[in-house]
Amino acid sequence: MPMNTGSPQLSPLPSATDQTLYEQVAERIQSLIQEGTLGPGDRLPSVRKLKQQLSVSMSTVLEAYRLLEDRGLIVARPQSGYYVKTTALALPDEPSQSTPLCQVRPVDISLMLRLLRMDLSPETIHLGAAVPGVEHFPLTMLNRLMGQVMRNNPMAVHTYNTVPGCEPLRREVAKRMLNAGCSITPDQIVATAGTTEAYYLALRTVTKPGDTVVIESPSYYAVLEAMNSLGLNALELPTHPREGISLSALQSALGNQSVSACVLVSNFSNPIGSCMSDRKKKALVELLNQYDVPLIEDDIYGELNFEGSRPKAIKAFDTQGRVLYCSSISKTLSPGLRVGWCIPGRYQQQVEHLKVVVSHMTATSPQLAVAAFFANGGYDRHLRTLRRAYQQQMNRMLQAILDYFPAETRVTRPQGGHVLWVEIPGGFNALELFEEAVQHHISIAPGPMFSTSHGYQNCFRLNTGLPWSDQIDQAMKTLGHLTKQQLARKLLSSSPNTKSEFSKPD
Ligand SMILES: Cc1ncc(COP(=O)(O)O)c(C=O)c1O
Repeated sequence: MPMNTGSPQLSPLPSATDQTLYEQVAERIQSLIQEGTLGPGDRLPSVRKLKQQLSVSMSTVLEAYRLLEDRGLIVARPQSGYYVKTTALALPDEPSQSTPLCQVRPVDISLMLRLLRMDLSPETIHLGAAVPGVEHFPLTMLNRLMGQVMRNNPMAVHTYNTVPGCEPLRREVAKRMLNAGCSITPDQIVATAGTTEAYYLALRTVTKPGDTVVIESPSYYAVLEAMNSLGLNALELPTHPREGISLSALQSALGNQSVSACVLVSNFSNPIGSCMSDRKKKALVELLNQYDVPLIEDDIYGELNFEGSRPKAIKAFDTQGRVLYCSSISKTLSPGLRVGWCIPGRYQQQVEHLKVVVSHMTATSPQLAVAAFFANGGYDRHLRTLRRAYQQQMNRMLQAILDYFPAETRVTRPQGGHVLWVEIPGGFNALELFEEAVQHHISIAPGPMFSTSHGYQNCFRLNTGLPWSDQIDQAMKTLGHLTKQQLARKLLSSSPNTKSEFSKPD
């Protein structure tokens, strides 16, 4: 039953603001929910009433209500209207900033390899790998464009192309970089086989074996694999789940030892979803300039913001060409086409040379198909739909954590992308959960994979890139049950360690 049926009075909307009209309406309602004027279970003003009160159109109000649904704050009830969700404000706490030991270490990937090579049954529900559901991608259009490219260039697609890649792709990427705050020309871009090749080339360009590279903690595990293969040491620094790497820790690290590079996932990071403010991005670039340290920026999730406009790249603040920017279409269009790019700044020549050494060039037809999609395939429209789908899926996953996991569970609240980082206190061991979950045909990514010291034993990462389904809901229920069982076992065997370990990776 609704607890409050009287609708609050709303003053007119301000005229000059950056937000669209429906975002302003949504903000207005959201603040009424947050300040408690509209409580859990309350009915929202009817669409007609709000339209009159705010002098906006019916579709603006509907769009605002849809946005609030995506944010997980309200629900629509058929024939009845919109209501504040009963659990809208009851999400679990977020983990706090990590506190790794800040020691230089070689990168050990033995555990990662064991877990990644594990034989998973074909019916496994993949909540471990950060892989989007292909259902989200415009496959018909992409396949048609691939066919068109092959037909229109029957010989050219079968010969060697220029090393930096196809000009149409680089032109379209340069245009898209304007949204990230970067003014780049096509000849400053090198096409690569995904982001993976981009950061591998970047790392190889700016380091030599034995060098030290600063990384976030926890850190995307494939970067650790690349660093291991290049014989690099890692220096993991404290990282906040919302604001990213600690600049004060970075400053003292740079002052105390020789660092060859810094690698960061700048926006909606993997695994903890952080997204630095512009102010922090600028300060980071200034700090790295001061110590003459290059930054490898992985911005693969940058276009997957749930709200507002796309966050700027760190590259937008790069005045001296020290940022090697890496990205791809793997999270937005297709990981299988292997189309990515590097914008290497002052390291352009070295990256181009290494690209020849490593793979000579990037395959032509996927580049041209993606360029055509960017140019006139409705990419921005597709992104709007995709962002909404990822946001809804993340909200469903958060709700499932709330419903099925122990009350003390902590979870990140990313504002984009498609991964969640879960922390369970009470002596919980994510590797044990992994082993048990595999028996139930569910995969998760245990925390120790994301650290050189195999810390974060009580954490794991969940993929929210798959369309929500009863199977995923059931898998979450099973994971919650296994977690509770494990904690009960630990309690019985009287392990008294109930302290949060997010901040103790070692
Ligand atoms: C942060 C990050 N970088 C890079 C990749 C891999 O990108 P690509 O498929 O473009 O090589 C992923 C995939 O999960 C990722 O999460």
